[in-house]
Amino acid sequence: MIDGELDKHDPEAVAEALKLVTATIAGKGGGRAEFWIHDVQDGDDAGPVAAGFTPYRDLWQLRAPLPAAPSNLIVRAFDPHSVDDLDAFIEVNNRAFSWHPEQGGQTRRDIEARMGEPWFRPEGFLLHEREGRLAGFCWTKVHAPDGDDPALGEIYVIAVDPDFHGQGLGKPMTLAGLEWLHAAGLQTAMLYVESDNTSANVVYQRIGFDRHRTDRAFETHVEPIA
Ligand SMILES: CC(C)(COP(=O)(O)OP(=O)(O)OC[C@H]1O[C@@H](n2cnc3c(N)ncnc32)[C@H](O)[C@@H]1OP(=O)(O)O)[C@@H](O)C(=O)NCCC(=O)NCCS
Repeated sequence: MIDGELDKHDPEAVAEALKLVTATIAGKGGGRAEFWIHDVQDGDDAGPVAAGFTPYRDLWQLRAPLPAAPSNLIVRAFDPHSVDDLDAFIEVNNRAFSWHPEQGGQTRRDIEARMGEPWFRPEGFLLHEREGRLAGFCWTKVHAPDGDDPALGEIYVIAVDPDFHGQGLGKPMTLAGLEWLHAAGLQTAMLYVESDNTSANVVYQRIGFDRHRTDRAFETHVEPIA
């Protein structure tokens, strides 16, 4: 971990800090290093690149004003006491996010831990069933105002089971979450999406989301010092 005082928008300071980090890693047998710049600005790549890092992942934060269009999808709330709901969610989630570095491979224990967090509200965790099984879900999270940010209603996790992809479910599934957030009093919606997640970005653009900021990840593979 790099000291929190580092100004990540100062390329020279970043390059110097990252060179120290990679030298340390090299001395400890080598390995992979990852570095994130939140709200990346023009010119910010220079520091990590000078230290041998490559940009490899852009995470976009999108925002949209509420209310959005109505959803018209029949949904119900996740039941936190139902093992069937939990297992159905995990199955669809892991199938839909098999490619995702953080959201894939979830276990009962992982989800129960998130359900135990103070922000968790099952009423804002919406399920859509089709053909007698879970076809999609939209899990929301409400953030209190923070600094310059107003209260934000986050589309925290949204997915459609791969068996139902391409049927136009993504948009009403997202809108169902936005409808709930607006009913809960939120005026601004927010979500994070990978820049290269084309199907999700098509859906979000159609709903009216705009890019608010970009978080960029850099990586390098450090050889051990012989
Ligand atoms: C994102 C997701 C919810 C979208 O749901 P979906 O029901 O498959 O979406 P749809 O098929 O209705 O719409 C996607 C649109 O993107 C388009 N699209 C998909 N891939 C595309 C590509 N590579 N280039 C251009 N357009 C593309 C589709 O053609 C479709 O447009 P259309 O309605 O004009 O045909 C779904 O793909 C999913 O669950 N993905 C895995 C989980 C995930 O990524 N969640 C979002 C995390 S932020």
